Amino acid sequence: MSAAIPLSPLPLSVRSPGKVILFGEHAVVHGRPELLLTVDLYLQAGFSSAPEFELNGEPAAARKHPYLSAARSSLWSDAYGGVSIDVVSRIPRAAGLGSSAAFCTALTAGFSAVRGGVEPSLLADRSFAIERKAQGVGSPGDTSAVVAGGVVSVNGGSGTILWELSDGDQHWKVRRVSDPGWIWLVVYSGVPRQTADAVRAVGRRLAEPDGPRLLEQFESVALEGIDAVGSERREAVGPLMDRNHALLREVGVSHPRLEALLDAVRPVAEGAKLTGAGAGGSIVALIRPGHEVEATRRARRAGGVPYVVRTSSTGVGLVASGPGRVRSAPRDDADDGARG
Ligand code: PMV
Repeated sequence: MSAAIPLSPLPLSVRSPGKVILFGEHAVVHGRPELLLTVDLYLQAGFSSAPEFELNGEPAAARKHPYLSAARSSLWSDAYGGVSIDVVSRIPRAAGLGSSAAFCTALTAGFSAVRGGVEPSLLADRSFAIERKAQGVGSPGDTSAVVAGGVVSVNGGSGTILWELSDGDQHWKVRRVSDPGWIWLVVYSGVPRQTADAVRAVGRRLAEPDGPRLLEQFESVALEGIDAVGSERREAVGPLMDRNHALLREVGVSHPRLEALLDAVRPVAEGAKLTGAGAGGSIVALIRPGHEVEATRRARRAGGVPYVVRTSSTGVGLVASGPGRVRSAPRDDADDGARG
């Protein structure tokens, strides 16, 4: 469980994990269950006082930096002065691995720390509001997982309720799921995409006559998946991932590059699927123990960028205050407009 963010003056530094969605992406936007696992790829953001607002050494422009702009207008007051934010990240952008959620939660945690600190449930609520404002659509699954760390379910399972969030029409219950401690292979296809476009396209697909039937199938696979992961029934998890992928393909968010990566890793995987919004982005696979190296070779030969990951046991948190703030990221990290 993530600790509360304590009051902290500038300079301060925040670290947030990335995430993969094991079951239920897209369906969660329509109130159905989802299972997310935070991974040990991290984004770190250093905050220090400055005359103006800056991101990675450049003036922060609202059009170029929608997440920072949303966080600033919701959580900051000019009375506090300017802030210079430097971001370094191992989470590839627009890849379905939670870089936007990590960035949103880091901004929310950093600004909230200066303003007096914040409890995890309010941090999750604020981070969702900022991601929603910048992105226009979506569920609180990604931001809640990144705040909580470990493994969490949304709208399903029987674990402890961490918090409940709503946006008026929709309501989401976020619960703790116990971490089975497995190794996962994540492979980025190199095809960036916009979460909001994929979410809108799936919304149109689910409005067709067979939409309710598809949503029922998403729901049943995700509920079985939440139970199988939480009770460490590995033999059940792989086939459920395959079934979830077939549904995602049916609603139109697979991509030839994702299918090529899935074909490449399947001989050594217990199960595999696209993860996140799809239409590009990444896959996640549960690899047969001992075959991780072979799986990464297969993924690389198929043109992907592989990451062997484990669960991050911690969510967003302050890592340091005072001297030692993180160094500036390379220039191409300075645009927050197309994360995912
Ligand atoms: O691709 P990502 O990391 O932005 O994940 C999106 C998950 C969706 O279910 C497609 C959208 C959402 O907000 O839950």
